[in-house]
Amino acid sequence: MIISTKELFKHAYGKYALGAYNINNAEQIMGLFKGSMDSQAPFIIQTLMSARDYINKTMIERMIKAADEIFPEAVFAVHLDHGDEKTCYECIDSGFYTSVMVDASYLPFEENVAITKRVVKKAHEKGVAVEAELGQLGGGVEGENAVEESKAKLTDPKQAAEFIERTGVDSLACAIGTSHGAFKFSGEQGLHFEVIEEIARLCPGFPLVIHGASSVPQEEIKRINDAGGKIKGAKGCDVNEYLPAAKRGVAKINIYTDGILVWTRVHREFFRDKPEVFDFRPMGKEFMTEYAKFVADRNTLLGSAGQLEDLKKTL
Ligand code: 13P
Repeated sequence: MIISTKELFKHAYGKYALGAYNINNAEQIMGLFKGSMDSQAPFIIQTLMSARDYINKTMIERMIKAADEIFPEAVFAVHLDHGDEKTCYECIDSGFYTSVMVDASYLPFEENVAITKRVVKKAHEKGVAVEAELGQLGGGVEGENAVEESKAKLTDPKQAAEFIERTGVDSLACAIGTSHGAFKFSGEQGLHFEVIEEIARLCPGFPLVIHGASSVPQEEIKRINDAGGKIKGAKGCDVNEYLPAAKRGVAKINIYTDGILVWTRVHREFFRDKPEVFDFRPMGKEFMTEYAKFVADRNTLLGSAGQLEDLKKTL
């Protein structure tokens, strides 16, 4: 069942965080739904603009609709991740997305406010929720907005409070020391909890979002490299910080890179260990199983595992 992101946040706020998983293809969608059902967790399925271009936006929407039918007990929201203004309007008008993220965080504050305000107005007319971003993470997911690590800026809590008030946005992605991709920390690992705490103090009950939350498991990197990969210096977030962040007001945690690492590990090991096989289905099946396990594990760490039944009672 597709529900509003706001509904999900209402249930999660202060207790747990929703896993927001980026998907690009049918295997990821199947693994995500299976893992979420295995762990009895509500979740957010999200697509980047580049994911909509990769397979085709209609195909992505129809695949998610199909998964909704295949897993009738699933409860989830459909979200556009890092949209520009035009794509936000397209998704709002589609009648399918329950929330959009408008990312104007790379522009000056006043421009970010103006663009976000316009998107919020259109979205709210159609009952769609809006996430925006303030501050700058390193390593942009959408090539054109990439930010060097040294130029990344933590969110200023006072500015965040002003932004929320002026735009009417429903949730806010804050820069708290993470970055997108597999190379998050050249030095010490760790989230800036003081930034989250201060925003939550100024805006009580307002759902915050962490982008760039993949953990980049070192065991996964080792297995990929043992099977022919060449990934050096990769480092991610500490998964034990997910729940403390959730308790402080983070209601959505974005995870993309870790899922790609599962894909890469499964395929590299498969090609190494079974060089005689050239059918893609056995490795596709294995990926779906492994990704489902990964999602269930992450949902446990986020605290969303086991929340489905209680959430359903509130709907
Ligand atoms: P990761 O690259 O850490 O998975 O972050 C994904 C993300 O924030 C997508 O918006």
